[in-house]
Amino acid sequence: MSTQAIRPARTLQGSLTVPGDKSISHRYAMLAGLAEGTTRLTNFSTGADPHSSLACMEALGATVVRNADGTIEVTGTAGAFCQPDAPLDCGNSGSTMRMLSGLIASHPHTFTLIGDHSLTLRPMERIRKPLSQMGARLDLVEGHAPITVHGGPLKAIDFTTPIPSAQVKTAVLFAGLQAEGTTSLSEAILTRDHSEHALKAFGATLTRSGDRLSIPGGQKLKAIDATVPGDISSAAFFLCAALLFPDSNLVLDALGMNPTRAALLDVVAALGGRIKVLSVEEHHGELIGSIQVNRAAASSGGGPFTISGALTAQVIDELPVLAAIAPYTANGLIVRDAQELRVKESDRIALVAKNLRAMGAEVKENPDGLEIPGGQRLHGAVIDSGTDHRIAMAFSIAALRAEGDTEIDGAEAASISFPEFFTSLDSLAQR
Ligand code: S3P
Repeated sequence: MSTQAIRPARTLQGSLTVPGDKSISHRYAMLAGLAEGTTRLTNFSTGADPHSSLACMEALGATVVRNADGTIEVTGTAGAFCQPDAPLDCGNSGSTMRMLSGLIASHPHTFTLIGDHSLTLRPMERIRKPLSQMGARLDLVEGHAPITVHGGPLKAIDFTTPIPSAQVKTAVLFAGLQAEGTTSLSEAILTRDHSEHALKAFGATLTRSGDRLSIPGGQKLKAIDATVPGDISSAAFFLCAALLFPDSNLVLDALGMNPTRAALLDVVAALGGRIKVLSVEEHHGELIGSIQVNRAAASSGGGPFTISGALTAQVIDELPVLAAIAPYTANGLIVRDAQELRVKESDRIALVAKNLRAMGAEVKENPDGLEIPGGQRLHGAVIDSGTDHRIAMAFSIAALRAEGDTEIDGAEAASISFPEFFTSLDSLAQR
């Protein structure tokens, strides 16, 4: 386990292009593996997680070429995955395990999906339910991985997601794409819609009526050329860092600004950021833009900002860093309805509370969230990342405004989504 020392900074200045979006990279990798033809992907995520998805595609019969310039070429299996000769290793990636289960469930083979210790602790019953209603058999071990998928013909279902989860939605859509009949799916809280855009980009028919999605089965996909937008969840660390200094100035280029992910920008604005959108364009249904971020003039009065309900689902991956910088904000932060955070790569509610306290902050931990007063001063501390990438990076940002140095234990976890994180931090943080 490696430790990274973080020194306090004077300000944050500069421009940055973050690596390709992790969620979109997973989806493009998987759909490319199923499609006919060669898909060319530019700015594919450099994180370990989407590379787990690519490796699974290779094990299922796709050919993957990783070019020196970072572009990836995937020649798909034209709808026929093979029987892999070893378990499919999903590494640390819940997205790989859950979405892949849906993608392979109609193929007439037996697949075993394994992962690392953290992934083996995460709930998998949520995908077993709908996929078994469709006719697949999934064996779990007490609700967890390893998963054995006994694939075979699937029939369409009409499904309502019981928890807001884009991964569960995607597992059902990917299975529905290859089932007999038209699968319908409703979600009470809209989650990220990258799968919907990606399926259409690869040529699938998919319709939405209100909160109900319908996907006819028996569809074939065609390879695409695509550029993956920058990951707004990676950019979140620097957006939050920009809130910490009165004269900060940050420009983020080629950033994914899909509306189901961009609520983060509203939260950053509510916490004292000033965000200017410099440009936006659309690519395969995804918005890509450039933004400039500064800190607004100090706000006065008002209570803590509350993140709850649908907003919680929309910024679920950014909550660790929002919470980590919340003590420095003028009015503080309340997070509610975030019980899902307890079953991410770590129990993110418990770890955020523990690490904030280590830095001297006052924080109240609730079963479904956190209450963090603003206007606090923090000191450097030893941080336990819990081998969770987002915890390691969130507290590296909190460390920028602390008194004294901070040590991040298990800092190497950042490479799960953002291997360049510490280099980018060094280039933007002025000391
Ligand atoms: C993701 C969905 C979210 C998110 C995860 C990526 C996706 O998980 O936390 O990092 O790519 O669909 P859930 O589906 O469990 O909410």
